[in-house]
Parts: sequence; structure tokens; C-alpha cells
Amino acid sequence: MDQSADMDKIVSLCKRRGFIFQSSEIYGGLASAWDYGPLGVELKRNIKNAWWKSVVHERDDMVGLDASILMHPQVWQASGHTDNFTDTLVDCKHCKKRFRQDHVGDKCPSCGKSDFTPGRPFNLMLKTYLGAVEDASHVVYLRPETAQGIFVNFKNVADTTRKKLPFGIAQIGKSFRNEITPSNFIFRTREFEQMEIEYFTRPQAAAQAHQQWIDERFHWYLKLGIREENLRVRPHGQEELAHYAAACSDVEYLFPFGWSELEGIANRTDFDLKQHAQFSGKELKFKDQAAGEEFYPYIIEPSGGVDRAALAFLADAYREEEVRGEKRVVLRLSKHLAPNKIAVLPLLKKNSDIVALAHSIKQDLQQRYPCVYDDTASIGKLYRRQDEIGTFYCVTVDVQSLEDRQVTVRFRDTMQQERIAVSGLRDYFIEKFERD
Ligand code: GAP
Repeated sequence: MDQSADMDKIVSLCKRRGFIFQSSEIYGGLASAWDYGPLGVELKRNIKNAWWKSVVHERDDMVGLDASILMHPQVWQASGHTDNFTDTLVDCKHCKKRFRQDHVGDKCPSCGKSDFTPGRPFNLMLKTYLGAVEDASHVVYLRPETAQGIFVNFKNVADTTRKKLPFGIAQIGKSFRNEITPSNFIFRTREFEQMEIEYFTRPQAAAQAHQQWIDERFHWYLKLGIREENLRVRPHGQEELAHYAAACSDVEYLFPFGWSELEGIANRTDFDLKQHAQFSGKELKFKDQAAGEEFYPYIIEPSGGVDRAALAFLADAYREEEVRGEKRVVLRLSKHLAPNKIAVLPLLKKNSDIVALAHSIKQDLQQRYPCVYDDTASIGKLYRRQDEIGTFYCVTVDVQSLEDRQVTVRFRDTMQQERIAVSGLRDYFIEKFERD
């Protein structure tokens, strides 16, 4: 029996099993900030590695970058963030709560009254000071998107890599927005991680490249296990488009709270490079020596959030099943994303020979795959625990293993078990994990 996950169950599992904790919890927590625990950090790392492999390592037309979070303040003038990166804010005059105007209807979601202040713009960039003097000339911003670090390095990368168009630059990193109403666990937070690509094309080829990236990014989520019925592409209407965008489509996921954006893929035209050329006074055109041409490339931008992707993968993987009259919670994460690939479990923790064999198997397998050893409960409980955190296989060492040098390997999804020779375990898992 499958049941769709709801948010409370996911949040509870994340805390109980060590995926995600409230930030500064012992001090009462910090609103909308989250810490990734031992399993969460592995999940996030696996998502980022899968993304990097797919958009950088497996392609000939992409390279990576890691730009700094703090940038010259003029970057944000040129990009338009200083003037335009605002949400409209209203206060409820009755209960004094503050909301994004587009997130409230006629009535205050907190007290139900309909008495708001007039809307006023609120800039979402987080401000700090660089150096020892706290005055206006020392203001810098924590970047609200990683994208600008790529635009301002366009020339550096183009010149040093000698890439020809079309080519792209990928970057993963933290971004910060002073969201008025952060919500839904790790879906909308003030500190989050982005995975962004800026793909530079000839203007005439931009529309085609845009469609290719929409398809590519949609299939990436499917390949990593998201069920197709929970994923869709939603093209933006003209009225939704940012002033610089010729077109934009979102990859949306059916979160427990409804369809919402997982990733946006925009055709940003030549807006960004032109703006930075104008504000910096530097030449940022692409020079095609062979054709004797120079021009501003168009930019296709697939921009996704690591945290949002993590939430979608967790929500999609979460299942409650009935097994022999009992509830089994299982995280059916893809083998590429599961934090632990293998758990090695001794059937009898008091038998030192079994324990020694289990440890030596783990020592060997962990050279290649993230493994855990656990002997802190009965085997039934150990299986349930591993199911709940998405561990792909359990290897159980029992009394018979000491005689026939075979162990039981149990697959998470089917719970089927087979006996495998200890000497053949490595090859067995290479076949299971590395075949595609
Ligand atoms: N450079 C384009 C850009 O930043 P965006 O739609 O504002 O576009 C891209 O953000 C992605 O970053 C979103 O699709 C989402 O996955 C993630 N994201 C944006 N704001 C976020 C927030 N407050 N919390 C978590 N993720 C966020």
C-alpha cells in the first residue's frame, strides 16, 4: 500500500534519522535556517555530484566555476538587483504580522482581519559591511543568486578555455535572500544553495538551445527517480516574464503542498553581458576570430535549488507500505542519491567471529561505497531502520557465514534476499551500482 507523503512525516523523518535539523535548535532555533545532518549532507552531496557529472563531466561544451559570494556592489547595480529585487510587503494593522502581498488574500492568514498597511517595496538582498568601517561606502551584499559570478567571469573563462560557442559555465553555491515569508521546510529559506548554468549561444540558436535545456533538465530529475506523474514543465506567460527574459519555463514538482517550482530555465537574451559591459566599461563581446565577428551571445539559464531538489527527492521517495500486517516506512531513493549504499549487519553481536567478519566486509566495501555497520538492535529492527533512510542493500553475517563464507544480501525495494559468497561481494555490488 502506497501513501503519498505529507510534509509533517518528511520533516519528522528528517529530524529523527539525522537528515535535517533546525538551525541553532538548542537556542530555540533560527527561523527558516536548517542544518543538514550526517545523512542530509550525503544526500545533498550526491545531488550536487549527480548534477555536476551530468552538466559538466559528461559534456564537451561545459566547464565549471566557483565564484565568491561577496562581489563588487556595482554588480548588483548592473544586474538590476539594487533597484528591482524587491517583494511588496504589507503589515496586518491588527496582529502586526508582516506578509508578502502576493501571498495573502483579503484576510490576514494569522488573525483573519482585513486591515493591511499599503504595500511597500522591500529589497531581498542581505546587506553587510566589508572591512572595519560600517558606512555606506563599505556596504556589500551576500549574493542573491550565483548567476552574476558567472556573467562577470564570462571573458576570463572564454579567454582561458578557448571555448567556441555554444558553451556553458556551471556553478554550485550558496545564495541568500531576505525572504519575507520563508516557508515549507527547506523549500523557501533565506540561505540556500543553487545549481546554475549560464549557456552562451549565438542569438539565432538561443530558442533551440532553450528547448534542449528544458528537456535535458526535466529528464535529469526523472533519471534520478522522480515519478513522471509528479513532474511537469510550465511555460511562463508573457506577464510573468522578467524584463530581460525572452522566454522561461519552470520544471515543477508536485510537492505535498502543491505544484511548485523546482527549477527555472530562462532565455535571458544578451541583457546580462550588455549590462555588465556598460557598467564596468569592459568589452564583453564574444570574438569569433575565424568568422571575423564579434557580438553579445544570448544566455540560456537553467537555475535550480539544491535544497528544493533534496525536498522533492525525499518527498518522492517516501513510502509507507504494509508488510505482513506491519507498517514499513521506506525511502526509495535512487542508487545515485541514497546516503548509504550498503549496511553490514551481524546477526549476533555477541559472537566475536561474526562481528569480525562483518567488520572486515565493511572495511573492504567502504573503499568503494559509503557503508555503515550497525549491531544495536535485532535484525528486523535494523532492516526497518535502513529502509527508512534509503540504504540500498543490507549484508547480514550469520553463523552459517562462518562455515560457508557466504552472507545474505537483502535489496531494500523488494526485500528479497540472496546468498552471496564473501569473495564475490565486490563484483556483485559493482554490477548492481555501476552498470548504467
Ligand atoms: N539566476 C536565476 C535565479 O536565481 P530564481 O528562480 O530566483 O532564479 C532559481 O531561483 C532556483 O533557486 C529556484 O528554482 C529554486 O530552486 C531556488 N531558490 C530560489 N529562491 C529560493 C529560496 N528562497 N529558498 C530555496 N531555494 C530557492
